[in-house]
Amino acid sequence: MAITIRRATVNDMICMQNANLHNLPENYMLKYYMYHILSWPEASFVATTTDIEVLEEEKEQLAQNKESEILSLEDTETGAIIKLDPTYVAPGEKLVGYVLAKMNDDADQKDEPLNGHITSLSVMRTYRRMGLAEKLMRQALFALREVYQAEYVSLHVRESNRAALHLYRDTLEFEVLSVEKSYYQDGEDAYAMKKILDLDELQVSNFAHRGNKSEQKPEDDLQSDLLADIISNGTDNIVV
Ligand SMILES: CC(C)(COP(=O)(O)OP(=O)(O)OC[C@H]1O[C@@H](n2cnc3c(N)ncnc32)[C@H](O)[C@@H]1OP(=O)(O)O)[C@@H](O)C(=O)NCCC(=O)NCCS
Repeated sequence: MAITIRRATVNDMICMQNANLHNLPENYMLKYYMYHILSWPEASFVATTTDIEVLEEEKEQLAQNKESEILSLEDTETGAIIKLDPTYVAPGEKLVGYVLAKMNDDADQKDEPLNGHITSLSVMRTYRRMGLAEKLMRQALFALREVYQAEYVSLHVRESNRAALHLYRDTLEFEVLSVEKSYYQDGEDAYAMKKILDLDELQVSNFAHRGNKSEQKPEDDLQSDLLADIISNGTDNIVV
């Protein structure tokens, strides 16, 4: 299944909010998404797919000739049918996960080094355990460091959220700073977590090989000349 991870834009906001409403009790108004994306346009990411199966209920409606009940409109220029469905960021492109990230701009942060914050992360249920959350997070962490010079990033997670805790603490190596009592509206405590952002560690090439720890990363060979190698050795040994 092909999944694309790309920077989030204002066109993705409704779908991000929709995914957030499906997956988490902490929800935000659209203007808060807008604030993130307009203020730090390179910090938030979405995962989307174009491999889309028609939902069972849609099939039923089609079978019963109830097309009109599937919200859609016709693109006046191309004639294409556009589904008005908040899971679709564009015709044929469905949002399956997002990470909403920002720089910390609280007034009480004046004496702190620049630092980022993960506001929200979620992956739609059928697309979980495929490594998407990890990839979204790594993209956001890299961007916060590289683009916005964040020295560290912070987030909160519910004490009971085993999946997210595993992701943050074990996979991404965040440290637990403290337990914030009754942080959430329903009274649940939160772990306040922090990760120092090291640009070398965050390079994509450093985690692409994760999962096969015995595998040695190929060293960059800055001396070799690709064209000269192709001419003398052919293309069989070229790794792209
Ligand atoms: C938490 C969440 C974002 C994880 O998304 P995901 O795409 O399934 O996560 P990944 O596939 O990238 O997994 C990352 C790691 O977490 C582990 N993990 C994922 N789900 C897990 C679960 N339910 N229980 C235990 N570990 C889990 C994976 O095994 C993987 O570990 P590894 O690095 O040791 O292999 C997803 O479950 C979700 O959207 N939950 C609801 C919203 C939410 O809780 N958001 C976080 C709010 S702070």
